[in-house]
Order: sequence, then C-alpha cells, then structure tokens
Amino acid sequence: MLTGFMGTGKTEVGRELAKMTGFGFVDVDAEIEKSESMTVNQIFLTLGEKRFRDAETDMIEKISRQRNLVISTGGGAVMRRQNRDALRETGIIVCLTATPETILRRTSGTDERPLLQVENPLEKIRELLTQRMPFYEQADIVIDTEGKNPRQIAEEVAEKVRLFSRGET
Ligand code: S3P
Repeated sequence: MLTGFMGTGKTEVGRELAKMTGFGFVDVDAEIEKSESMTVNQIFLTLGEKRFRDAETDMIEKISRQRNLVISTGGGAVMRRQNRDALRETGIIVCLTATPETILRRTSGTDERPLLQVENPLEKIRELLTQRMPFYEQADIVIDTEGKNPRQIAEEVAEKVRLFSRGET
C-alpha cells in the first residue's frame, strides 16, 4: 500500500511495483473517478471536498477487503482514522516522500490537484505537509524519492518490503 503527498509518484511507482510483483494495481483516485463518472477535480468543484473524502473512505473500505494488490491512495487519505485503520488491514504501508520544491515542480503544469489551485502553492504544500507528516510517518517503510525514477523507487520499495517481511528492518 502506497501513501505519501501529491507528486511523490505513488501512481507511477505503484504501476511499476505491480509489474515487478505480478500483483494487481489499484489507484484509489482512479476508482473514485470511475464510480462517480467525474474527475477528482470535478468532484471537488461541484460536490465539495467533504463529499470527495466520503467517497474516498468508501472506496478504501471496499479495496482494503481485497488481497494481493498494490494500492495507491490519494495524498490526503491518511488524515482520516477510518482510512488508516482500513489500510493497515491490507498489509505493509509504504510512504513516499519528496521536498516541497520537488512536489511543486512535479505538480505544476497540471490543474488536476484542486488543493493546489491557490495563489501560493508552495506555501500550501508546506502547510499540508506539516499537518500530514505525523500520519505519513506512521508508515512501516518511508522512502525518499528525490533524484530517483519510478523504476528505481519501485525496486527500493520491493527490497525494503522483502526485508520488512523477514523482520529485518
Ligand atoms: C489529494 C491528493 C490527490 C487527490 C485529491 C486530494 C490530497 O491525490 O486525492 O486531489 O488531499 O492530497 P494524489 O496524491 O494522487 O495527487
């Protein structure tokens, strides 16, 4: 299970990891978009963040009942206790990290992140990271993504998951 802030590469790394392990890949945001027939952006704009968070909780609950999956969650999913509990049930939790500057670079040029459509996105990133860090840090494994491509990160995740499963970390 992959957590981490927007722009830390959860979706790309999740896909790589699924290829490497033969597990299925599920992206929580993509599943919400399918079930609501709307983009995340449209859900935020027309129904509001609360409605999105409720849909996210329902989707995590549903997905967490399945096994042998690589799951990528939206960056805000860790904020609800119910989501954290459900995700913990699914298996090992891996959090991807990056600096605020890298997150800004990776997320700018797209308007797909409704929370960052503000005048000063860097400040917003810093503020959200400060609020969320205590929850991201509860992951079993934390991986710094700076200067690495999705394939390299996926390999690092796989290696650390192996060690973690053997009780070596
Ligand atoms: C959000 C992150 C997004 C998406 C939504 C809210 C957040 O997912 O769920 O825009 O609160 O951090 P990604 O982390 O995949 O960008």
